[in-house]
Amino acid sequence: MELGSGLGRKIRLLLEAARGAGGLERVILFDVNERSIEEARARLLADYPGLELGGIVGDFASGDLDLLGRSKGRLAVLFAGTIGNLHPSEVPVFLRGLHRCLAPGDAFLVGLDLVKDEGRLHAAYNDAAGVTADFNRNILRVVNQRLEGDFDPAAFEHVAFYDRERAWIEMRLRARRRLEVRIRRAGLRLRYEAGDEIRTEISCKYTRASFDALLPGTGFRSEEWYTDGDRLFALALLRPSPRQDSRLPLPGRPREADPPPARQAKGSRRLRKSNLRKSVSRVNRVRTPCCFSRAARCASGTRLPRTGKPLVTSR
Ligand SMILES: C[S@@+](CC[C@H](N)C(=O)[O-])C[C@H]1O[C@@H](n2cnc3c(N)ncnc32)[C@H](O)[C@@H]1O
Repeated sequence: MELGSGLGRKIRLLLEAARGAGGLERVILFDVNERSIEEARARLLADYPGLELGGIVGDFASGDLDLLGRSKGRLAVLFAGTIGNLHPSEVPVFLRGLHRCLAPGDAFLVGLDLVKDEGRLHAAYNDAAGVTADFNRNILRVVNQRLEGDFDPAAFEHVAFYDRERAWIEMRLRARRRLEVRIRRAGLRLRYEAGDEIRTEISCKYTRASFDALLPGTGFRSEEWYTDGDRLFALALLRPSPRQDSRLPLPGRPREADPPPARQAKGSRRLRKSNLRKSVSRVNRVRTPCCFSRAARCASGTRLPRTGKPLVTSR
């Protein structure tokens, strides 16, 4: 089961590796973006015609993991640094949800971007070609397109910096001038002064210790830790631990200064107006939950994500 499967490029590595061991019986692609799943399925089926290939459109951070059902003999994977886009207080909630879909002996392989040289991080998020800046501003185009907004993306400057205390990269958009924006489908009218900032994304960087610290109470234990030679990235292999109860209360509470993102209501087909209102109203004060980013970016396909709806259950 590949969570956040995108175009399904990395699952090919597992398909190839599994060939020698009898092959994978079945693959489930799980992504919030329906168009990605459709494209990934078409490409994978062209190259692996015998593969049983399912797809589920859902938000793994909002309870939709239950759509995976319960079964045995499963490997869940979440590649790239996607888990880093969750606020650290959301990770245990996500893991407990995933734990419910796995049985003893199953596993979860998760990619992590590691804490590294700050200059390197800064350069990656402030690339000279402006790719990240364009990606960052794209959220405004998506809001315009999907929610009938009238943001002028050019009126916002890309800002990305490493917050050492929280060990995350934060991306913001800073208004270059005073402007007023309407988001018609959300019934919002926003005013920005020059210098006001919108927090659009966080990308958490982990160490083995900081990631392992999130595991108690989730039902998972860490089994292996794989890194590249330069220790820039890691893959953590987690196992459901039968002795741990994933229904235990979560350890710790998010700090007041870091409110966890507001949630899209489970099963709702579009971003709830009230949630968006909450998100956007905090935007002006740089308190934006990352779900503003996630929800808008996830909606960047031509259709709204059909949250909670299995797209394809099998071939
Ligand atoms: C950085 S891309 C990685 C794609 C692919 N796994 C790879 O490594 O090439 C992140 C993917 O996760 C999906 N995604 C992000 N947040 C998600 C969420 N909360 N629920 C489901 N999918 C999500 C995005 O739509 C996107 O396809």
